[in-house]
Amino acid sequence: MRADLELGKLQAAAARVRQGIKIEPELGLILGSGLSQAMELEEERCLPFSEIPHFPRSTVPGHAGELCAGRIEGKEILVQKGRVHYYEGYSMAEVAFPIRLMKLLGVKRLIITNAAGAINESFSPGDLVLIKDHINMIPDNPLRGANIEELGPRFPSMNEAYSPKLREAAVRAALREGLELKEGVYLAAPGPMYETPAEIQVYKRLGADLVGMSTVPEVIAAVHCGLEVLGISCVTNMAAGIGHSKLTHEEVLEVTAQRGKELIRLIRSILQEM
Ligand code: HPA
Repeated sequence: MRADLELGKLQAAAARVRQGIKIEPELGLILGSGLSQAMELEEERCLPFSEIPHFPRSTVPGHAGELCAGRIEGKEILVQKGRVHYYEGYSMAEVAFPIRLMKLLGVKRLIITNAAGAINESFSPGDLVLIKDHINMIPDNPLRGANIEELGPRFPSMNEAYSPKLREAAVRAALREGLELKEGVYLAAPGPMYETPAEIQVYKRLGADLVGMSTVPEVIAAVHCGLEVLGISCVTNMAAGIGHSKLTHEEVLEVTAQRGKELIRLIRSILQEM
């Protein structure tokens, strides 16, 4: 990847989005598997990913694939409905593209949601979990290669990747809404197959509470370019060997569809403080 070419692609995409959906957002939101339908925006304007130059397109059912501008709780927000994953075959630059585009469009604070399997046995399907840190087990990351100096430093710190300030706001919001919010470490596995029970035992020993196939590359790109990040997982299943059923994508979509409303309620409440 050449840094100057990548920046040029991002600038072209940003120009198209500004022209198409007229937005000056400080807030960004990424909605994962099955969650996109649950979020309604006031004055919503959407652009399909396919109309944004260089924007990667999702190939997975349950990932809608549009970038929407609008207002939630009186605030301008940019919402990415659907995302692309490493397992779809995209390069890490492509996975990071939407995040860097948000940065160019003025976003400063970003909420990332996902569906995850629970490794921590005190979690249950349907739980909402605040991500406090992550472990990257995907054998690549979006910062490898030429650094885009205009976006961030060569060696960024990942010390407080998940903003303590935003996490505190999320805890207060959960209290206001009467929702239980757990906390844990999210591990990104490469996928697309779900993990084996033996792999889950390794991840458990490494300190992971949750496992999924997204989020971490995006958070790395977001922290690199100086965004404050909040991550929330919706537990859709117990991870392999922790629960005893065979995992299916349908099960994941079903649980997020059921819990989506509560997650959206939590996000709305968090946005009041952002
Ligand atoms: N493993 C990986 N990704 C997931 C899972 C899981 O158990 N559940 C939802 N996404």
